[in-house]
Amino acid sequence: MPRTIKSPNRVAMHAAVVRSFSEPPRHERVPEPEPAGDHEVVIDVLAAALHPRVRSQADGSHYESTGALPIVPGIDGVGRTADGELRYFVLPDTDRGSMAGRAVIDRRRSAVLPDDIDVVAVAAAVNPAMSSWIALRRRIAFRPGMNVLVLGATGNAGRMAIQVARHLGAGTVVAAGRDPDRMALLPGLGADHVVPLTGDPEAVDRALAGAADDADVDVVIDYLWGTATERALPAVLGRRSDRSRPLDWIQVGSMAGLEIPLRSEWLRAARLQLVGSGQGAVPTRDIVEELPLLAAHVATDHYAIDAVPVPLRDVHAAWTADRPAGARTVLVPGEADRAG
Ligand SMILES: NC(=O)c1ccc[n+]([C@@H]2O[C@H](COP(=O)([O-])OP(=O)(O)OC[C@H]3O[C@@H](n4cnc5c(N)ncnc54)[C@H](OP(=O)(O)O)[C@@H]3O)[C@@H](O)[C@H]2O)c1
Repeated sequence: MPRTIKSPNRVAMHAAVVRSFSEPPRHERVPEPEPAGDHEVVIDVLAAALHPRVRSQADGSHYESTGALPIVPGIDGVGRTADGELRYFVLPDTDRGSMAGRAVIDRRRSAVLPDDIDVVAVAAAVNPAMSSWIALRRRIAFRPGMNVLVLGATGNAGRMAIQVARHLGAGTVVAAGRDPDRMALLPGLGADHVVPLTGDPEAVDRALAGAADDADVDVVIDYLWGTATERALPAVLGRRSDRSRPLDWIQVGSMAGLEIPLRSEWLRAARLQLVGSGQGAVPTRDIVEELPLLAAHVATDHYAIDAVPVPLRDVHAAWTADRPAGARTVLVPGEADRAG
């Protein structure tokens, strides 16, 4: 039986609750969710991050949204089970998300973490790291030595993508992005070339084409789409040294737009393989299989992420608070949130 936020329940706790898609969630008292199947357990949530995916869940714009309200938002987190294990978990589509004192997790969608980790940093990092990890390991036949372009490299997922591509053995890594201050940091994360996406569009085309020329890009991890991709696609395609060799263009995010015009010659003039990576395009079982390795890797490799912990009770203000570019808000429930 599906759990619902409205169901009567003896035990209460606090959670972030969305009652309108046009308003940030509020900190409210709600019934504690109860485990149903053999694999489900209650976890004390220690940290749950406010990813773009969570924002689109809470404003109803994500393609998986059913439009039903109210919901507790949050798609993943770090927590502790009653038997003392620290776990990173991802939740299925549910109205009982992770921004709560407690959540019900399916153990099979979680991974045990070492006890000495920074729970806020890990909660912030796994989702953005997962975007490129899954894309490269489950969506294409990536091989060490392949050259990678990260389009939209200044965001959390883009910066992780540089580091993940390096870890998985990429040859050359090209990072393209907008914010000049944050672009300057990308070589320190492993980018060999940095391409600014700002300024005169023709200069951007030339810069992209020059970098694609130098790197002979095999794989693009695209967090932008929209006009950014519309310009980058022909610039990169035209620079393949062997146009019959596959160019895997992986659509992962849409920070610059939801659409591009798909010109027919792009598909004929080079061996363009346009794929998406996300919920649906990648089966849940594949994501779940990757979780232990990915979580262990993120927990031990100290990926650069600027995580900002905020008490869960301040969720309403935190939702719209101004943060430095690139900072990731992480909601931190306290004991009071588990006490009803
Ligand atoms: N499919 C998946 O598995 C998956 C998983 C995680 C995330 N995602 C998606 O990936 C995207 C990025 O997520 P994130 O966690 O990195 O978000 P984030 O930390 O908020 O970063 C977003 C970045 O996008 C940049 N940006 C926005 N508009 C741009 C434009 N027109 N041109 C160039 N850069 C632009 C911003 O650049 P500035 O620095 O210039 O402001 C910002 O740094 C989102 O769409 C998210 O939903 C997908």
